[in-house]
Amino acid sequence: MKTNEFGKKGWTPDRIGNLKSKTFVITGTTSGTGFEAAKILLAKGAKVVMLNRNTQKSAETIVTLKQELGNAIDVSSIEMDLAVQASVKNAAQEILNTVPQIDALICNAAIAQVPKQTHTVDGFESQLSVNHYGNFLLQAMLYPRIEASDGRIVVVGSMGYNMGIKTIKFDDMNWDKNYSPNDVYSQSKLAQIMCVYELQEKLKNSGITNVKAYACHPGASRTSLIKTSGSLMTRFVWQLMKWSPFVQSAEKGAYPQLMCATEPNLDQSGFYGPTGRNNWTGPVRAHHIEPHAKDKAVATKLWTVSEEAIGLKWSV
Ligand SMILES: NC(=O)c1ccc[n+]([C@@H]2O[C@H](COP(=O)([O-])OP(=O)(O)OC[C@H]3O[C@@H](n4cnc5c(N)ncnc54)[C@H](OP(=O)(O)O)[C@@H]3O)[C@@H](O)[C@H]2O)c1
Repeated sequence: MKTNEFGKKGWTPDRIGNLKSKTFVITGTTSGTGFEAAKILLAKGAKVVMLNRNTQKSAETIVTLKQELGNAIDVSSIEMDLAVQASVKNAAQEILNTVPQIDALICNAAIAQVPKQTHTVDGFESQLSVNHYGNFLLQAMLYPRIEASDGRIVVVGSMGYNMGIKTIKFDDMNWDKNYSPNDVYSQSKLAQIMCVYELQEKLKNSGITNVKAYACHPGASRTSLIKTSGSLMTRFVWQLMKWSPFVQSAEKGAYPQLMCATEPNLDQSGFYGPTGRNNWTGPVRAHHIEPHAKDKAVATKLWTVSEEAIGLKWSV
């Protein structure tokens, strides 16, 4: 990957052509980067199926999108709570029943900085459950449809992948010992992107070339992320930071996932995000990723552990 690819400004949505006849399934569109990504895809003529946990917010999002883009946009929503495996299975089944083609599944939704160890109904630590297991189960269930559509899987990670323990805590996946909001968030985002690179390996070994998998991140973007699940103190600090020049708009934060979902011939080995200071803002393109995110032995084990957790084997 050339460092100056996409010019001085990096990748921008100007590069997206007409998306009529393309279908995008995206998680978490009620705010932040997911909302902005959905808006841009719809503005380019795509069909967008949104997966959200809150039906009221989802309905309001559709109203807002129609107010901004007109009533002709092809947008719909399906209820899905990533924290509940049964809910993910129901939503995925509904998609398989009603959405004949998936050009890209964008796994955007997440929670962050949950102050105390919390368990989901399935007994998993909440950040790993929502961010990794939930999105991983959704991918596994939709994979056959994505393969039949020559589609893509796009996973929205975080530079947090490099801020925690830099490996997977296999002997304590629920963080019963030494729970820390940031370490566990980082772990969940590392797990998400490790599985992208492991999926690429699996596709390669199976001789499958028509499916692509990408990992990206939004840098530091002005969204509701910390407000939704962080502690009072984290919310306060983030609120102050949000309006500093080190943090960009949610719209710009959506560019990496849009790039990975639409740009033709994009190198899958890249990690896509802003390339300015600390990778928080700046031109979007591929940038350096630390080797621990591509540790083959850890990734292979994580894949097995994750399949056991979701009770499903991928058909790749
Ligand atoms: N903002 C940043 O600076 C930053 C930095 C690094 C990485 N990221 C990543 O960027 C992605 C988007 O986050 P954002 O910053 O745009 O945050 P956001 O504004 O809080 O949006 C998160 C979305 O995920 C949804 N969501 C949360 N829990 C869910 C669940 N259990 N089931 C289904 N949907 C759920 C939220 O729905 P509700 O409205 O119902 O809460 C919301 O639509 C995340 O993957 C995050 O890790 C963000």
